[in-house]
Amino acid sequence: MTGSENPLQLSGAARIYGTLAHPADHVRAPTLFTAKFAELGLDKVMIPIDVRAEDLTSMIEVLRRQINFEGAAVTIPHKIELAKLCDELGETGQLTGAVNAIAFDTEGRLLGDNFDGKGFVAGLYGEGFSLQDKKILMVGAGGAARAVGLALAKEPLAGLDICNRSPDKAEWLAGRLGEVTGQTVAAVPNPPADMGQYDMIVNTTSLGLHDGDALPIGLDGVQADCVICDIIMIPERTAWMQAAEARGLTVHAGRHMLDYQMDLIAAFIGAW
Ligand code: ATR
Repeated sequence: MTGSENPLQLSGAARIYGTLAHPADHVRAPTLFTAKFAELGLDKVMIPIDVRAEDLTSMIEVLRRQINFEGAAVTIPHKIELAKLCDELGETGQLTGAVNAIAFDTEGRLLGDNFDGKGFVAGLYGEGFSLQDKKILMVGAGGAARAVGLALAKEPLAGLDICNRSPDKAEWLAGRLGEVTGQTVAAVPNPPADMGQYDMIVNTTSLGLHDGDALPIGLDGVQADCVICDIIMIPERTAWMQAAEARGLTVHAGRHMLDYQMDLIAAFIGAW
């Protein structure tokens, strides 16, 4: 898109948002947010802020002092370090120790949270899936699993099982999620004995990112109407999703988690 097709008309009163990343070439948020600002007729802009890890603290101090700077989306490699710099973390930010959005409040305090899990659940509802009374298996117990697991466990499920290569992490996460949400959450063997009990299986491991990766979990014995969800965004159709489709199963791709986060992040940073 050229400037003439999308004239950016800012006044001196414009509010500024950012996307903190390094490198920043690949980030999509500035394009998406700025297009939405134009569509809504808002005097706002989001700019990519390419900052090295060693300069992050100084950058935050500068942004804190910039009166017209409201908040930012946050991506690799800053999610964990920024969580440490926040004065206040939301529930998912606390559990994951990582943030993907930050905002300054009126006193200049830095607030942060992580919207991966809420975005994942919003994506399921947005694409027409129900979670009511569903039995779900989550594969993986790392950082992404903490966010996705917390959001899933708050839904009216029949129960959430977690399996992981390292069983101690699945045990820890199941205990923590059960405690925080009151949901029935259990750590189960990897793979679980009875794959036929699940209405939905969610991959939160990194398996599928690279060619030649093993499948996160085999699909033998799953119900014909089980929904197979990946949170890996690239490739858009992972080998696991392809294996599921070859069996005639319904799949749900990772990009929905990101797409459905935009409105959640916008609300948190006060964009619209
Ligand atoms: P992220 O923040 O992206 O979730 P992470 O916290 O390192 O990254 O978690 C990666 C997840 O993928 C973990 O569940 C990890 O299993 P372990 O807890 O046993 O490490 C899982 N994972 C990564 N590589 C794997 C592999 N080769 N086989 C099985 N699980 C794997």
